[in-house]
Amino acid sequence: YDLSHTNTMALACTAQQVVTLSQESELDAFMASNDADKLPLFVLSGGSNVLLPSHLAATVLRPQMRGIHVIARGADYVDIEVMAGENWHELVVYTVNQGWYGLENLALIPGLVGASPVQNIGAYGVQLEDTVQYVRAYHLETRTWHTFSKAECEFSYRDSRFKQAPNTWLISRVGFRLHTDPTRVCANYGDVQQTAHTYAKQSGRDSVHAIDVMHAVIDIRQQKLPDPKVLANCGSFFQNPIITKAQFTELQADYPSIVGYPMPNDTVKVAAGWLIEHAGLKGSGVAPILTHTKQALVLTNHAPYQATQHDVAIAQQYIADTIYDKFAITLAREPVWVCADASIGHTEHAL
Ligand code: EPU
Repeated sequence: YDLSHTNTMALACTAQQVVTLSQESELDAFMASNDADKLPLFVLSGGSNVLLPSHLAATVLRPQMRGIHVIARGADYVDIEVMAGENWHELVVYTVNQGWYGLENLALIPGLVGASPVQNIGAYGVQLEDTVQYVRAYHLETRTWHTFSKAECEFSYRDSRFKQAPNTWLISRVGFRLHTDPTRVCANYGDVQQTAHTYAKQSGRDSVHAIDVMHAVIDIRQQKLPDPKVLANCGSFFQNPIITKAQFTELQADYPSIVGYPMPNDTVKVAAGWLIEHAGLKGSGVAPILTHTKQALVLTNHAPYQATQHDVAIAQQYIADTIYDKFAITLAREPVWVCADASIGHTEHAL
């Protein structure tokens, strides 16, 4: 099976076996069959946050269950349950158009709903955990279904219990509580604030509406982030590193324009895109894997369906080494590194 077209980084990849699931019961049936024990299992959702090997000696499970259901309505909220195979961005647009708010800042994030809790997707001041109520998932080892409350999902920045235990869970449904007040928005992120106000004015509104935030986010992402259909990429390639306040203050003395956000316990989250740009690496890397010319934190693949995971490893190493030499900061990879046997690589090391 060719998987080159089912990962947004467009890395050349084949897999031993692929099983597409359009119902939860198909998973129970597959796991009860002899085929389930033959190879390691690997869950592939939208393929927008993975780096796949040239050959994956595994059975690839592809959750494609569809459906968006209203579970309950309150005076100022609506609870919905969404199946894992729904497209994330389409869900955001659908909910905002229904008058259900809370997901608008997360517009245009590629991928499917089932993967969204894994790395607790986040953008422009909002994270998935702000609206999630529960996650239903199948435990691949014990072959049992579980429902996790938000607290049990153990969400943190780009992390969750599902990311911590790779190849263990297949997420099938996500429950959200959305609200119905269009003026309750999170629009204090620099660019979003300005653009959302412009949209509100154009529509004759005095205050910013959730729909204005969604349009602002779509605009900003379209300006900075490459569309994977046009230029292969897997979003932010590195996490924004968290360093001590003392180290940040020292760096500020040498680089007054450095961007960082204060975090708990005297730490600062540094914009890795800024570091890469100011190390002179915006638009460069190791061909065919280059940083994006408009957002240096995104690595792009200029040889789609030909470049391999190894090419990515070389570019990652070069960029991380350059940043370390210049700023003494270690960059950790953000997307999931999948090894040939479906095990998951460590964040710092690729080669
Ligand atoms: N910056 C530069 N040069 C660059 C890129 C960024 O100087 O080439 C500076 C920007 O000027 C800005 C700061 O770095 O001051 C932050 O940049 P931006 O707002 O673009 O966000 P980011 O920190 O680079 C994070 C997420 C994105 C998310 C945006 C918006 C991570 C690893 N990435 O990026 O998520 O869309 O914030 O909230 O946290 C993703 O995970 O795939 C992703 C795209």
